[in-house]
Amino acid sequence: MRTDPGRFRQVDNHLSMPTFDDQLAQKIDSYIESLFVPSDPILSANIANADAAGLPPINVSPNQGKLLYLLARIADARRVLEIGTLGGYSTTWLARALPTDGRLITLEFSPVHAVTARKNLTAAGLAGIAEVVVGDAGDSMNAMIEAGEAPFDLIFIDADKPGYVKYLGLALRLSRPGTVIVADNVIRGGAVMDESPQDLNAAGAKAYNTAVASDVRLESIALPLFRDKIDGIAISRVK
Ligand code: SAH
Ligand code: DHB
Ligand code: MG
Repeated sequence: MRTDPGRFRQVDNHLSMPTFDDQLAQKIDSYIESLFVPSDPILSANIANADAAGLPPINVSPNQGKLLYLLARIADARRVLEIGTLGGYSTTWLARALPTDGRLITLEFSPVHAVTARKNLTAAGLAGIAEVVVGDAGDSMNAMIEAGEAPFDLIFIDADKPGYVKYLGLALRLSRPGTVIVADNVIRGGAVMDESPQDLNAAGAKAYNTAVASDVRLESIALPLFRDKIDGIAISRVK
């Protein structure tokens, strides 16, 4: 029996709304945050310090932070690599998911961002777990591969978007079967659906999505996420 096509034409629910409702999305994000992400003085101080140091407010959202934390917990991660530190907000979420003898390496190009992140991680009591490595992330990853660095359990890609496909290739060389690779900003307001996105960040994210979707070494999905804008993350597992 065919499915009744009328079933999908109902207009009295939110799933079938023809346009994206920013205000509703923000309310849903706040609702989820109020339920699942209690306010936390360490994380609030992290953001306040990053603002005071003039860093751009482009850290992951609280709900995304909780999602990263949970992914690391579910993966039973002991070793995490982060590409793009900023003030160490996502770093804090990820480092908190690790055991006390766990290790997190986070790669940051900007010395000013790195100094701010180190201060924040020290204040959070995470300096023994999380190390900020200053330099171009591609160079740092190549150096780790060269040095025979042990594979990571989870790798979070969140630096320059045009570099995402390169970071994916390097991340795979720092992975083992079961490693989880997560990438932020893979939807960019839907701009990744353009055939050739004008915006270089959207173009980089689009190339990343295409790469993980077609890579036979990975099983992957992308999830839309809402806050002030619509964006999303990609999650992959190395086969
Ligand atoms: N993960 C952070 C946000 C990172 S923002 C959080 O959610 O809290 C992106 C960061 O990547 C910026 O700090 C930027 O300086 C850094 N970055 C940009 N290009 C880079 C590169 N080539 N190598 C390393 N870091 C880079
Ligand atoms: C932006 C957001 C991000 O999460 C990021 O990593 C880089 C840039 C932005 O909205 O510009
Ligand atoms: Mg990001």
